[in-house]
Amino acid sequence: MSSTLSPIDKAKFAAAKQACSFVSSGMTVGLGTGSTAAWLVRCLGDMVRDEGLQIRGVPTSSRTAQLARDVGIDVISLDEAKWLDITIDGADEYDGSLNLIKGGGGALLQEKIVATASDQMVVIADISKQVETLGAFPLPVEVIPFGWQTTKTLIEETLIGMDVLGRTASLRMNGDSPFFTDEGNHILDLHLNRIGNARQLSLVINQIPGVVENGLFIDICDVVVIGYGDGRVEVRDINKGSVSESQIDFLEDENLFSDIAD
Ligand code: 5RP
Repeated sequence: MSSTLSPIDKAKFAAAKQACSFVSSGMTVGLGTGSTAAWLVRCLGDMVRDEGLQIRGVPTSSRTAQLARDVGIDVISLDEAKWLDITIDGADEYDGSLNLIKGGGGALLQEKIVATASDQMVVIADISKQVETLGAFPLPVEVIPFGWQTTKTLIEETLIGMDVLGRTASLRMNGDSPFFTDEGNHILDLHLNRIGNARQLSLVINQIPGVVENGLFIDICDVVVIGYGDGRVEVRDINKGSVSESQIDFLEDENLFSDIAD
């Protein structure tokens, strides 16, 4: 039941539900990864089942692929799709220019490839993800396992010349073992506290041998849909310069909530 959801989950759900209005039959849709994106996948699955929505979904992780299949979405690979109408995904931080930090769930590589291959990227988030300046959330960087400690040292040395407040990197763990991405790589989380020039940092990090990709999404996101715990939703479109507000009614979605409650 909706009353069992925390305000943060209600906010994530509200953003995801509103973002479904960007999707229509015939579209190829990039499906993000994370708890907010999981709400989106469930909502789209409901629309496939109840409203006959016909879409093809390109998942950004093995987790999302599994969930999408479970809820009845037709899943295809990026190579089959080649280009997408839209990608809808969560974020760890977004700023006023809709630049993002992503990769908290470890899927930044597929997420960036899929979003970049889309006509439009829509981010769904609760208001806690909004920041003045990116960097409080540790910046995930995907690195190949070969020589990862050397890559880490090179990154930390490179950070000395950058406009950031912290300069340490830590290997992401999964319990007692290093975390592996879907591509078999590791994640280094960079504790920067504040990123003064995100565009420059992104370019410089990606020059370091061993780095596959970083979690800064610069000039990729077009729209952010911000959910609040009371069902309010704000939609900001960076290209149109528009902001609109609406309200999501939780009661209509009791079936969806009961699927995941308990
Ligand atoms: C996964 C991501 C997620 O979109 C990001 O971590 C946000 O996750 P959540 O919606 O669970 O807060 O980038 O790699």
